Amino acid sequence: MTERIFQVTPGGRLQGEARVPGDKSISHRAIMFGAFAHGRTTIDGFLSGADNLATLNAFRAMGVSIDGPDERGRVVVDGHGPEALQAPTGPLDLGNSGTSMRLLSGLLSSLPFDVTLIGDGSLSRRPMRRVTEPLGQMGAEIEATPEGTPPLHIRGGRALRGIDYPMPVASAQVKSALLLAGLSAQGRTCVTEPAPSRDHTERMLTAFGCPVERDGATVCVEGGARLQATAIDVPGDISSAAFFLVGAAIAPGSDLLLRHVGINPTRTGVLDILRLMGADIALENERDIGGEPVADLRVRGGAPLRGIEIPEALVPLAIDEFPALFIAAACAEGRTVLTGARELRVKESDRIQVMADGLQTLGVSATPTDDGIVIEPGPIGGGEVQSHGDHRIAMSFAMAGLRANGVITIRDCANVDTSFPGFVALASACGLTLQEAQAA
Ligand code: S3P
Repeated sequence: MTERIFQVTPGGRLQGEARVPGDKSISHRAIMFGAFAHGRTTIDGFLSGADNLATLNAFRAMGVSIDGPDERGRVVVDGHGPEALQAPTGPLDLGNSGTSMRLLSGLLSSLPFDVTLIGDGSLSRRPMRRVTEPLGQMGAEIEATPEGTPPLHIRGGRALRGIDYPMPVASAQVKSALLLAGLSAQGRTCVTEPAPSRDHTERMLTAFGCPVERDGATVCVEGGARLQATAIDVPGDISSAAFFLVGAAIAPGSDLLLRHVGINPTRTGVLDILRLMGADIALENERDIGGEPVADLRVRGGAPLRGIEIPEALVPLAIDEFPALFIAAACAEGRTVLTGARELRVKESDRIQVMADGLQTLGVSATPTDDGIVIEPGPIGGGEVQSHGDHRIAMSFAMAGLRANGVITIRDCANVDTSFPGFVALASACGLTLQEAQAA
């Protein structure tokens, strides 16, 4: 397989207007719920990234009729309820997508047939006990490796019962897996979160006509729910916007308008953290699109950034944005300290170690800790960094080029397409000098 390599020429600034692709979390859920619902669900702004296409293809493999995505991101799902799903002829390959694997393990665990879920090398190392254990308490039978990693073999024909589950970690994937299993369980399923995590599942279930009750940190669904097809408009992904927010914030002279970005309050930790650091970000044209808040984000470069102690309460609200935020920290005045973020070690890569290694290669002092990192800002040099196939690491180091004093080469970038097809073209159009190369 050929390797994709990014090469970033130092300097530049980000300017103009951009629309980042659709939200990954919302796109996954739109396919899943549409396939389980009755009637025709239309999805606009669907993210045609590899992760979401893995979810889409999984449902096609179970006999669901899905049209699209077309070039404008329209997908049409004809749902006939879970009872119409058919046994796939082979394992469902979910590629790099942890969200697909965890949510499907809940959603599929009550079907009458067996299903096997597999993934790529990265996904095959990720912890699944966080979902298989509580789903087992509900009556599901899911076999993983002795290490608790994929492949997952889900045994069909199990009758599920609702449980009350206090989650040990704030994870929207775990919460969603249990709530989705709860839809076909006997009785009520309640999940209590140690801290708020993204709530797209709750919002979208409501849009599909399924009542979700929230009482403080506890969210519940009743078994036997019937989802009714609806229309979903997917906003731009704030996690993809984050690279551009950081890029513009660190590059003096930048002035960038990011249109139609989702600003669900369970996702906006990146805005809070960048503003605490002193970044100049304004929200314009705030509106509500189908139950999800959306805005245009204007970010101007040049405001001096300062290092901060990142409030732990913001960690789950910015969980995917830390690689980009570490680049902002490297360009700030004074030390940045992150704690309470051990989860970053079990994402698509160990994001604490991989970012620390890359920053050190570029001459920035970055010390990993058990549950976070300490970054002492300093000049960013050139050099070759490894992304370890992690899309967000690759895009974060690409933005570092705006403030580097030498060429940055980033290895193993193919997985940028899991969440952000078109990243190179969009970043280049905004002013980043980014070349792509391939190596055998
Ligand atoms: C996601 C939840 C988060 C996030 C992931 C997408 C989701 O994971 O990191 O990229 O769509 O529910 P955790 O909930 O495990 O933190």
